[in-house]
Amino acid sequence: MTSSRLDLRASNRALETFGRRSLDALLPEALQTERFAAWKPKADSATRELARGAWEQMTLNEYRSQVGFTDLLHAMTRLGLSRDSLQTMERLTRDEVVHVELCRRMVLGLGGSDVIPGQPQWVGLDASLEPLEQVIEFVTSSLCVGEMISCALLGAAAKAATDPTAKAVLTRMTADESIHGQSGFHFLATLLPAVSKRRLRWFQRRASEAGAQAFAICLTPYEDVQHPFGALPFARLEPILRATWRRSIQPGFARLGLEVREPGPR
Ligand SMILES: [Fe+2]
Ligand SMILES: [Fe+2]
Repeated sequence: MTSSRLDLRASNRALETFGRRSLDALLPEALQTERFAAWKPKADSATRELARGAWEQMTLNEYRSQVGFTDLLHAMTRLGLSRDSLQTMERLTRDEVVHVELCRRMVLGLGGSDVIPGQPQWVGLDASLEPLEQVIEFVTSSLCVGEMISCALLGAAAKAATDPTAKAVLTRMTADESIHGQSGFHFLATLLPAVSKRRLRWFQRRASEAGAQAFAICLTPYEDVQHPFGALPFARLEPILRATWRRSIQPGFARLGLEVREPGPR
């Protein structure tokens, strides 16, 4: 996992078939293997290449979520969390496997390959914390903050997309990320009662920090590109992030008794 490319090539024909069937069973027909393989994006080659770069980056991000959520599922399982918690976390992890596959299909359709250039920005559990705290910290930063923001950005990209396949992929991912973000707050509702008041204040600070980090990452300026596959102009990001913070993230934490600070202006 240390090279600067993400290799998504299959290694075994039977495993590829099992994997493909299980994922296709979770997808609407328009996004299943055969229909996707027949997709012909309507754009010139320069536009396709620009969009491919964006979808390669999305693939790396989704792969990061797949690995991070697999770790979180493992940690929750080892802690013996409730049946419904593990079922939900298993669903979230599977969703990310589906998202990686949808992004891979988009990259292939846009002329790319199964070997994605670049490297995911890995996220993981904080090994310096106690096992329960590792789970709470990860849920706070990656689900309550990270997935809520990603849901809002994907939703805006889905609206902006005019290519029907890209729109269908982004719409599917948005719906899943919404469940992921909401699940984060429900996980916290079940986990926080076991936490001391002092630790609760630490998690409150950690949530504010996670917001500031997420804003800083999302608001790293980039050059706007025009394509029909879900392009978002940079200027739209900050208003979306602030609206999401005020409407979803801050109230979600407030319902749990945590007061989080909105990230300051850049
Ligand atoms: Fe995802
Ligand atoms: Fe997600």
